[in-house]
Amino acid sequence: MSQSKTTIVTGANTGLGFETAKGLAKAGHKVYLACRSEDKARAAVAKIRRAHKDADLNFLKMDLLDRPGIKAAAEQFSAENERLDILVNNAGVMGPPHTITQNGLELQLDANHMGHFYLTFLLLDRLDQKDETRVVNISSLAGKRPDADIYFDNINFENGAYESGREFMGLKGMAAYSQSKFANLLFTLELKDRLEAAGKNIKSIAAHPGASNTDLKRNMKKHLQILAPIIGRFMNISKPEQGAESFMMAALDPNVRAGEFYGPTDNGEYNGPAGLVPLPENARDKALAKRFWEFSEDHLGIKFRI
Ligand SMILES: NC(=O)c1ccc[n+]([C@@H]2O[C@H](COP(=O)([O-])OP(=O)(O)OC[C@H]3O[C@@H](n4cnc5c(N)ncnc54)[C@H](OP(=O)(O)O)[C@@H]3O)[C@@H](O)[C@H]2O)c1
Repeated sequence: MSQSKTTIVTGANTGLGFETAKGLAKAGHKVYLACRSEDKARAAVAKIRRAHKDADLNFLKMDLLDRPGIKAAAEQFSAENERLDILVNNAGVMGPPHTITQNGLELQLDANHMGHFYLTFLLLDRLDQKDETRVVNISSLAGKRPDADIYFDNINFENGAYESGREFMGLKGMAAYSQSKFANLLFTLELKDRLEAAGKNIKSIAAHPGASNTDLKRNMKKHLQILAPIIGRFMNISKPEQGAESFMMAALDPNVRAGEFYGPTDNGEYNGPAGLVPLPENARDKALAKRFWEFSEDHLGIKFRI
């Protein structure tokens, strides 16, 4: 086994985050499960311990919509650890009813991007080490769709834009979901450029799971939630442990390169062995990435030192 690393996985109580936390624990690493529900996190810890009894598992209370809470969690982590080797920005939500959060942002953009942008900012000192560390941002095939973009003129999908856009199995707000998952890619690439320019040994990497049978469908109508895995059998939908393989590759594979995108490589990236997958062309738009980075900094009232 390689030397034990200290890692954080957001949204680690279920789905792909759980499988990633379990995989990192199996590899002998210290894992912080950063979750909004302590009960769910403790249940996940117990489940991982049943398979890996000596696993070094820890809990960080974190709701990605709660900025002071994110700060408190980062401070707790920093008080307990000199270094962070791998940050997996995994937690996510898809297709909730249109909601503007207490932070004034559309819910998916806030949880899926802005909370993670802030968390990464707060942990950068701990990631900044002589030897290599990593930030892994979890995106989606939704971030590669033709409508995946940052809609600066209506970033919150107001005035009916949320409901009138693309739907998926009855879920509205799918263009807004794509915006948030495209945001994960823009963040990954701009972070990579800034880290390299600052001479930091932190790799910024993106990954996606293809299509995986998790609780992400929780906002669908109940009968569609039941039907989804059945339909999924005919649509190349993977088990969560398979979907998480590209996350594990991005987190641990020594050959992984900064600024690359990893995902399943069969059936239009829906499933199959993990490997390098193409980024959408517009994610390489440096002017867009810079503008969105500055938008995120201004929104949070922060300034990265890179
Ligand atoms: N499943 C797929 O096919 C698929 C495809 C493409 C991309 N992805 C991406 O993969 C990632 C993981 O999704 P999943 O499929 O594993 O979904 P999941 O089973 O629903 O898990 C999502 C996790 O995110 C957490 N979360 C949601 N909102 C949060 C918030 N405000 N603060 C803190 N934690 C929050 C959830 O916590 P609670 O349990 O407390 O709600 C849960 O732990 C997401 O970024 C998703 O966009 C998934």
